[in-house]
Parts: sequence; C-alpha cells; structure tokens
Amino acid sequence: MSVLGDISPEQFLAEYWQQKPLVVRGAFEDFEAPFTPEELAGLAVDSDAPSRIIVEHDLPPEKQRWQTKHSPFTDEDFTTLPDTHWTFLINDLERYVPELGNLIEPFRFIPDWRIDDLMVSYAANQGSVGPHTDDYDVFLIQGMGKRRWKIITREDYPKATIPDISLSILAEFDADQEWLLEPGDMLYLPPNVPHYGIAEGECMTFSVGFRAPSKQELLQAWVESFSAQAEFKQRFSDAGRQMSASPGEISRDDIKKLSAMIINSIQSQPGFLQNNLGLWLGKYLTETRGDTLAPLDHDALQSGRYQYNPKVEYERESWLRFGYIEDETPALQKTNTSENVRIHFFADGQHTVLPIKYKKTIQMLCSDYFYTAGSLSVLMQDTDFNSLFERLVAEGGLYPVQPGQKD
Ligand code: SIN
Ligand code: CO
Repeated sequence: MSVLGDISPEQFLAEYWQQKPLVVRGAFEDFEAPFTPEELAGLAVDSDAPSRIIVEHDLPPEKQRWQTKHSPFTDEDFTTLPDTHWTFLINDLERYVPELGNLIEPFRFIPDWRIDDLMVSYAANQGSVGPHTDDYDVFLIQGMGKRRWKIITREDYPKATIPDISLSILAEFDADQEWLLEPGDMLYLPPNVPHYGIAEGECMTFSVGFRAPSKQELLQAWVESFSAQAEFKQRFSDAGRQMSASPGEISRDDIKKLSAMIINSIQSQPGFLQNNLGLWLGKYLTETRGDTLAPLDHDALQSGRYQYNPKVEYERESWLRFGYIEDETPALQKTNTSENVRIHFFADGQHTVLPIKYKKTIQMLCSDYFYTAGSLSVLMQDTDFNSLFERLVAEGGLYPVQPGQKD
C-alpha cells in the first residue's frame, strides 16, 4: 500500500494537490520515531537545527497568551516547562537525522526541488502552535501519540490574526471538519487552509513541507545573481548636461538614461535574451541553504586527494541538492538527432553540461543517495563533471564509504 492509501499519485495530483485536504489512515503503518522526546530535546540543545518552543498560557490578555522562544536552547529551557500546553518544533530535521529521509521518499513523485524540509514537533498534552494558515503544502504525519486536527474548508472565515505577537495565529477559529490522528495516520493540507492541531496526551508529529518561491524571492535572487558583477557598479554619468531651468524637474532625458540602465542590464542577461531562464533556475533551485558546505581547501583539491575512486562506494548528504534539465541546442532542433540533446546537471548551484548518453546515470545520481562502487565511473570521462565531483567531495556533500561499511 502506498502512503496515499488507495489513491494513486496521479489521482492525488489531479484531485488533491494544491486543492483539497486528504486524510490517510495508516499511511505509515510501521513507522516508529527513531528517537525519544528526550533525545529530540537533546538535538535541539546540542545542534544548530532551527528550533522553537511555543507555550500557550491561559491568562489574559490575549497578546500574552502565546509565547515563543527560538533556539539556541539550554537544558533548562526544557526542564522549566509547564506540564501541559506547550510544544517544541525542529526544522530541517532530515539534515540531522538522515534516516528520516524515508518519510520524504514516498513523496518524490513531486520533484526534489519542490520539497523544502522535514519538521518535527513534540507536544505535551494540549500543546499546539495555535490555529493558523501556511503558505505551503504539507503532509502531517502522526509519529507518536494522538493529535486532533481541526480545519476550516470554507473560504469566508474570519482572517484576522491576533495582533502584536510574533506568531501568526487566527483570532477566531470555527472548524468545520476534524479528525483524531493516531500513529501512522497522515493529513495532507494544501496552502492556506486554516488548521489547528492539538495534542491529546503527549505526541509527535512530522511535517513534510514544500517549497514554493514567491515572485519577490525569484526576482530578488535572479537580479542578485548578476548584479554583483563589476560592470553593474557602473554609475549614472551626464557629461555635457544642459542647464536645468527648474531644480525640482526630473527631465525626460534623465528618465530615459536611468530607465536604459535598468532595461539594458536585464536584457543583457543571456537567459533573458533567449527567453530561457532554465540554467539560472537549475543553479538557484539546487543551492545549498545555510553554511553547510565545508570551506574549500584548494591545495588538497589540487593534490587529487578527493579524486573519484571506482573501488569505493559514495554517499550523498541529505542536504546536497541535485537536479538536471534536458536540453536541445535551439539551432539544431530541426535536425534533431540524439547528439544535439544535452543534459545540464546541477549540484549546489553549480552547473555542468554532458552529452545525453549520460542521462540514465545522471538520473540515478539524482534519485539515489548511495552509489555502489564504480557506478559513477562512466561520468568521470567528462573532465568538467570530474572536477565538479571532486569539489563536492572536498566540500563534504559527497563522501566515500568503504564497501560494506554503509550504516
Ligand atoms: C505542529 O506540528 O504542531 C504544527 C504543524 C503545522 O500546523 O503546520
Ligand atoms: Co501549519
């Protein structure tokens, strides 16, 4: 049985994804959290995983009801908590507990670039983060204990949030559907569905969260990708300027010159000209978040220390994002033979182009996190790929494992 119960991934995408909630009982039937709540608190204290503790107080005024504290934490933050009505949440959990990749794996019929992170919440009895909406799709998997989920499906619900608090919590919440989720059950929610999950007894919930960049994020990142180049430091210049008759006027001539600075800068970008921002998107969508990569030791890199060894197995860190784009050389599209088609491989924002004959191996490289001895040998014939590979090993995103040493 799939985690979607008797619904196929095709049917899920056609009828539910981004459209309506779905509850699947027993989606992860045999799942057991690989840690105790105490070990989870230990992870929040000892690692730099982004974490929050949210306590709900029952005293007025309303704006002091919800109290949030962000990591870093000490043991004391956990030992001083009340008996009930609190929860703590850890984001990017897949980086710290890679074996939890098995909670993400079943959703990879949605491409990797669309997946954001795995979050876990542990709640004492009655703990919650309050009623709210999220901008992203989420699969909420009940890992331990029970949680009551209430949602609002109608569009015309009161949208006001409690003012002056750091969390975005709906001031009113009148649910029209609810379910009590038990271990292994799952609730899928599309973006913007108001929801409220309250622990009944202590419980643990895992959330597979998705990534949906806003126009603002895309635009900012794209402009940032080229505007740091030296030519963009060039300033406005106006030798031979005519006298201004009125100090307040911003003349048509000045507007024309300033506008040209913006428009020419954008139009000079190759992706923009070819009406294809694919290569930039490939880099952007595979960039590693935070400063996860080890600093590059160029001498060690030169020495060949990180060279591919066909006799050993390699493993990929869960945070190292790979992706590919299949491309046709536009000028050759009419005489389409397989030599015209190339494959663009992206890893941590870096790009390399390979002949299409490597497609199957690139697909395997992107799907898997563990590579058997020699399985990447064929790609090493390409010198650009070879140096990208060495760089990824040097930065710690890929690492060799002696055969038989896995786990
Ligand atoms: C939780 O796990 O408590 C919160 C998850 C959510 O509501 O998005
Ligand atoms: Co939520």
